[in-house]
Amino acid sequence: MSRKIKSCFSRLFPKGAQIIAALLAILLLCGGCSGSSSGTSETVRIGVALYSQDDTFISAVTQQMEQLAREYEDQNGGKINLNLADGQRNQTIQLEQIDRFLDSGCDVLCVNIVDRTAAAVLIDKAVSAGIPVIFFNRQPVQEDLQRWDKIYYVGPKGEQSGIYQGEILLQKWNQEREQVDRNGDGIMQYVMLEGEPGHQDALLRTEYATKPLIENGVALEKLASDTANWSRAQAVSKMKQWCQEFGSSIEAVIANNDDMALGAIDAMKEMGIDPLPMVVGVDATAPALEALEEGSLLGTVQNAPDMPEILLQLSLALATGQEVPETITIQDEHYVWLPYHKITKETIRQIVP
Ligand code: GAL
Ligand code: CA
Repeated sequence: MSRKIKSCFSRLFPKGAQIIAALLAILLLCGGCSGSSSGTSETVRIGVALYSQDDTFISAVTQQMEQLAREYEDQNGGKINLNLADGQRNQTIQLEQIDRFLDSGCDVLCVNIVDRTAAAVLIDKAVSAGIPVIFFNRQPVQEDLQRWDKIYYVGPKGEQSGIYQGEILLQKWNQEREQVDRNGDGIMQYVMLEGEPGHQDALLRTEYATKPLIENGVALEKLASDTANWSRAQAVSKMKQWCQEFGSSIEAVIANNDDMALGAIDAMKEMGIDPLPMVVGVDATAPALEALEEGSLLGTVQNAPDMPEILLQLSLALATGQEVPETITIQDEHYVWLPYHKITKETIRQIVP
């Protein structure tokens, strides 16, 4: 194996996975082992079905996957075909895309399912075709994942991101009470911008974000809460209404993701709310990190930063019928849980270079 290929592996595949990844590449390059139905042994074909390509976080994940795949190809000569399909938030459209992926001989599917309660039909199609499925970011119910042993879910545990948001607010509340408890009543008046109804992250973040505050004896008053469907534009209009209703009595804005946190900031700036209340989001998108540096966003939570790499590694292993790399821990036979990271202005440099 050339030095060039080895150095690629050290970058793409950390620690123990390197050995397995090296074996995998040899198998891919030698041919005859791809498990591919068409017999094109140097090419691994991954069908990536997205719930919506215009979602900020999801498009960042897919861009990173594409970049990693290109790096992998450049370095070892094997080919990874990443076929992306935009489900346009429509389960029927997404199922047609899955049919096309299966008909065209994909080796493995990565699915960001539109309706996470409707995975059974999709799984049955994959089982009939004998093609493994890795769900990510939008978590199907457990019974569906258990339909076959080649079905996985890759993602973080939503409750952790909520807890981190609560901890960020708690720290600020304890350290700068006079500034953040604007009316000085010892109660944190907050509004909650929720993600898409029924999404596990929306449900769990909403539930868990207040827990660290309650557990530490902070009295809370919820002024308002509503869904803005992960959307910056919807958050702007929701927040404008709340600004009209509550003005500067809002002391904290808890948003289930960064796009909505940024929408809230846009609205408050437009409505002349100054200083801004505490605002927290999740995802650590590029514009959110800018807002953090600027000081308008108090904190965010990095959303499974290693997801693109894990999706690729697991896809390659499943497509070629190889053992899953040791660096990937599979729990309860189907779940690969990835970490979140808490980010504030003080810690941003430790996380994002
Ligand atoms: C969440 C993320 C949101 C949105 C959603 C899509 O984890 O925080 O911004 O991308 O996934 O399923
Ligand atoms: Ca107060």
